Amino acid sequence: MKRNIIITGGAGFIGSHVVRLFVNKYPQYRIINVDKLTYAGNLLNLKDIEGRPNYSFVKADICDFDTMLSLVKDNSVDGIIHLAAESHVDRSIRDPFTFARTNVLGTLSLLQAAKAVWEPMGWKSAGGQECRFYHISTDEVYGALEMDGGFFTEDRAYQPHSPYSASKASSDHFVRAYHDTYGMPTVVTNCSNNYGPNQFPEKLIPLFINNIRHRRPLPVYGKGENVRDWLYVVDHARAIDLIFHEGAVAETYNIGGCNEWKNIDLVRLLIKVTDRLLGRPEGADDDLITYVKDRAGHDLRYAIDASKLQRELGWKPSLDFEEGLEKTVRWYLENQDWLDGVTSGAYMDYYQKMYGSR
Ligand code: NAD
Ligand code: TYD
Repeated sequence: MKRNIIITGGAGFIGSHVVRLFVNKYPQYRIINVDKLTYAGNLLNLKDIEGRPNYSFVKADICDFDTMLSLVKDNSVDGIIHLAAESHVDRSIRDPFTFARTNVLGTLSLLQAAKAVWEPMGWKSAGGQECRFYHISTDEVYGALEMDGGFFTEDRAYQPHSPYSASKASSDHFVRAYHDTYGMPTVVTNCSNNYGPNQFPEKLIPLFINNIRHRRPLPVYGKGENVRDWLYVVDHARAIDLIFHEGAVAETYNIGGCNEWKNIDLVRLLIKVTDRLLGRPEGADDDLITYVKDRAGHDLRYAIDASKLQRELGWKPSLDFEEGLEKTVRWYLENQDWLDGVTSGAYMDYYQKMYGSR
């Protein structure tokens, strides 16, 4: 079956893994990567697939309604997988407006563009395929759990604390409202913390790998006691593929690694693995750990119950954490030019080289 699919945010961390999976696995689909190329967008993440006949890139802002409308209409798009977002909690604390603009208004602009084209066609493509708007969200919308506070299930009430999670919660509500009000075929997933290749080194794992490499301080917020549930990014992309094709309309699925780590324990493991792969004595860099002022409103614990996804669609993570973390550290150490290009800002020239101007 042929499909024309827009993937937004495809030049970012998770989006690039989703684009790669779809382009490689579905040569009969046309994949259109729509990305504004903010600081977090890096086309070098997709160098290996950029010449493929079933792939194209469009530099555009999802908030630009007219452009979104023509992209959906002119390409007979019948599926949207929406990942574009501002994604870093610390930035949201400094600059909440940008988060409201992209995450809330950008999602609304995409929804409205899809509705304008799909509703008159009875939410079906010319070939009779049911259209689908798939919104990628986060576990952070559920708020924070106590240490012994159970797990986030899909029916848990939203209680976001950061401007980032508040903006994602709002976008989730808009997506569900488009189903309930207009009948748009939507699906929403809420995933835990991702890790793996191509993550922008402002997030914990790539930032700390790079700092260990350069023997720079590792700034652990507060006492390092906050807990996160970590999932390898390719397993998230596999879940997205499955849910895009087989998930039920209007459903929510939680996605998680069943893999909780206290930050400080994770940092110690990361030092151990990185030192070993760098040929340094194990633990040699423990003294880089530096406790710093806590993040404002720092959520204590996130933990996902992903049993619905496992039960209903048969998904489970393919990698255990030690294996995934080692693979990840190895990738950053073997791709130091990628890391150096991102930290120096040189990655921003790549679009200009390929397409003209940024
Ligand atoms: P990222 O910050 O690495 O990438 C975001 C991408 O969106 C970038 O390529 C950026 O250029 C693009 N973008 C930003 N604003 C845009 C706009 N106005 N128009 C078009 N493109 C724009 O993010 P990520 O970590 O890959 O996260 C992707 C999605 O997954 C987000 O929606 C995020 O909320 C969600 N999510 C992330 C995690 C995680 O651990 N990283 C976990 C759960 C859910
Ligand atoms: P992060 O990777 O920013 O993801 P999120 O805030 O979405 O969970 O942070 C993961 C955890 O690590 C979080 O509890 C904050 C903490 N952290 C630090 O202790 N130091 C840092 O420099 C960063 C970036 C994060």
